Amino acid sequence: MLGSVVHVVGARPNFVKAAPVVAALRAAGQPQSVVHTGQHYDERMSDIFFRELGLPEPDVDLGVGSGTHARQTAALLVALEDELSARSPALVTVYGDVNSTLAAALVAAKLGLPVAHVESGLRSFDMTMPEEVNRRLTDQLADLLFVTSPEAVGHLANEGVDPARVHFVGNPMIDTLMAHLPRFDPAAARATHGLPARYGVVTLHRPANVDDPAAATAAVRALRAAAEQLELVIPLHPRGRAALEAAGLAGAPGVRIVEPLGYLEFMGLLRGAAAVITDSGGVQEESTVLGVPCLTLRPNTERPVTVTHGTNRLVEPDSLVPALLKALDGGSAAAEGPPLWDGRSGERIARIMTEWLEHHV
Ligand code: UD1
Ligand code: UDP
Repeated sequence: MLGSVVHVVGARPNFVKAAPVVAALRAAGQPQSVVHTGQHYDERMSDIFFRELGLPEPDVDLGVGSGTHARQTAALLVALEDELSARSPALVTVYGDVNSTLAAALVAAKLGLPVAHVESGLRSFDMTMPEEVNRRLTDQLADLLFVTSPEAVGHLANEGVDPARVHFVGNPMIDTLMAHLPRFDPAAARATHGLPARYGVVTLHRPANVDDPAAATAAVRALRAAAEQLELVIPLHPRGRAALEAAGLAGAPGVRIVEPLGYLEFMGLLRGAAAVITDSGGVQEESTVLGVPCLTLRPNTERPVTVTHGTNRLVEPDSLVPALLKALDGGSAAAEGPPLWDGRSGERIARIMTEWLEHHV
């Protein structure tokens, strides 16, 4: 019998990426377990995703919670060392670029446990982003690197990663989107939030936009101006809530602030939106596939295929309104979707993992 796979997940985007991999391994009869670090813990940031995406209840929740980078990462390292030592899996699988991802990869490597990284090789080349640090270091520690878009293969080669470890499999986040597409109901989501036929969705949570009061003020000024053109609904991530509200988002005309939404409701809103304004990695990808014009409030993106093959445009606060007007005019039609974003990535990952386990256990 093959050794077991442990999936380490902790934050909202992890759950969306892990679901199709867990499902495909389950279908292949692979023994596996899910370790939740507890980095995200609110019902709306965590439990709702397990229910909606058919993820199994985590086998354990380490309850690590929030903190500064050092405190959170330290707590993750300590808790994961005990957990992974006890489980002693044949493969530890980590997802994306959050602190739980790097911590699990680091603990596994020190314990001599092989690591698979799903969503390897994305690079913003901006080391001020905590995620860029997490991505680069995780990729150095991984034995199996699963890549969502072709340019990532080159980034990994440039960093000295053995190409034999790298597998271009497409995007599991898009597997999740395709699996649940019939359940994304824009009319129902619009009715719930009392929105007109034409509306925009906004998500903002990157430290560069919400931690610094000056940046939050610039973002809010731009959003208030955008709301004069298009009514906006903002499911607000807990990280930015206080800063964005203090900067004048609360009570702004044409702006509806709501709690973070479950996956199905959020994707229903996104599917029906005239445009989305975001700094999320996942939303850049999802809007690409849904053909929703996406304005990314960031100076760079680690997901350039969403610009070359999708509807995404990078904007600054000052260029948001002109870009929005252009998008609403139909100025950013979708091109052909990125290669292998076809709903089969989980299956590809599962096949490669099980073959790898046959040869390494
Ligand atoms: C994390 C990831 C980021 C990812 C985002 C997805 C890192 C370094 N960052 O950012 O890459 O895009 O998740 O959403 O790992 N909080 C709650 N409830 C929760 C979780 C968090 O209120 O369930 C609040 C706490 O005040 C916490 C803050 O949000 O301090 C930030 O949470 P944290 O997980 O540290 O980082 P995120 O900003 O969520
Ligand atoms: N999402 C959701 N509800 C929300 C906001 C986001 O279900 O209110 C989903 C959406 O699918 C998104 C994913 O959560 O792609 C990850 O979101 P987030 O922006 O938090 O993380 P990032 O992709 O930036 O790391």
